[in-house]
Amino acid sequence: MKFFADTAEIDDIRELAATGLLDGVTTNPSLIAKSGRDFMEVTKEICGIVDGPVSAEVVALDHETMMKEAEILRKLADNVCIKVPLTIDGLKTCKALTGDGTMVNVTLCFSANQALLAAKAGATFVSPFVGRHDDNGFDGMELISDIRLIYDNYDFETEILVASVRHVTHVLESARIGADVMTAPPAVIKALFKHVLTDKGIEGFLADWAKTGQSIIR
Ligand code: E4P
Repeated sequence: MKFFADTAEIDDIRELAATGLLDGVTTNPSLIAKSGRDFMEVTKEICGIVDGPVSAEVVALDHETMMKEAEILRKLADNVCIKVPLTIDGLKTCKALTGDGTMVNVTLCFSANQALLAAKAGATFVSPFVGRHDDNGFDGMELISDIRLIYDNYDFETEILVASVRHVTHVLESARIGADVMTAPPAVIKALFKHVLTDKGIEGFLADWAKTGQSIIR
């Protein structure tokens, strides 16, 4: 499963990229607003840090303007992935862009039928929002299972990008189901490394090592 960071914070992206485990980045208008940075400038900077896809979202609601915005965004870097909302105009834009070889992430997906439409529109990625789904009394991970089943039934190549990830259990369940990608806030990705028994184990080993009076680097 690929790991994308869901953020526009450069320091976090650099830190995660340095682990060698970061496969891409997703942003959205709210994350850009939170960063306080210029959209074009920060997107270009992120594209230079990670090798993989960097999702940048259009803000127009009609197809023609979405295409104009996408045209500007895709000139920023080769690894820009245009993010469009799951609407009729968004999917029309998706079809046109992917037909032209541009990566597209169809966002704000909340049903398996919507995911089916995104795949038929040739989306590179579909982003079902599991956290927001849970918040509204639905089962976000059940949505991912349904999409996995449908995509496998028809051999769709669209990658399931689990979004709105709130905790490490969402990541675990995504991997169990066989999602292709998950995007999470940096804090959730960093939490994946942690286990109380790992910390306790290191502490015990180092205490015993100190008793030997030895050092590896001599
Ligand atoms: C995905 O691409 C979105 O940017 C993101 O996952 C939304 O998450 P949120 O529900 O925490 O805002």
